[in-house]
Amino acid sequence: MQKHKNAEKQRAKLLRVARTAMKRAYAPYSNFRVGAALLTTNGQVFSGCNVENASYGMTNCAERTAIFSAVAQLGPKFEIEAVAVVNDHGVPCAPCGACRQVIYEFGPDAVIFFQGAEGEKQAHITELLPEGFRLK
Ligand code: THU
Repeated sequence: MQKHKNAEKQRAKLLRVARTAMKRAYAPYSNFRVGAALLTTNGQVFSGCNVENASYGMTNCAERTAIFSAVAQLGPKFEIEAVAVVNDHGVPCAPCGACRQVIYEFGPDAVIFFQGAEGEKQAHITELLPEGFRLK
């Protein structure tokens, strides 16, 4: 019961942090603001937002911004336990394929919280990205 309560608290905190980051998004082209927050296995939280560019393909998604920010702060030796993603349209928004691969790199056992087609959803990264690529 306590464990379940802690997980719920964790999810609520990540969603809150993601929402704050979402407000900082730079999305003048799509007008679709996204925020992400990740929790490391050591209990640290990092956030990110999408950052678009006039050369559209250079856009960085919120999830990758959060991960790259964690690497910049901690170095590469951390593991992602969970990631939450929110958007300002209140529509389904699972991490894109590129972000799934980047999440997998640092969180092969991560849980992702996002809005799915049927509402709030929680999925293991390997459900979203079966057979993720690893160079080992
Ligand atoms: N986007 C994200 O930041 N994360 C997602 O999970 C889906 C898409 C951004 C990229 C782009 O700035 C905007 O949403 C529209 O595609």
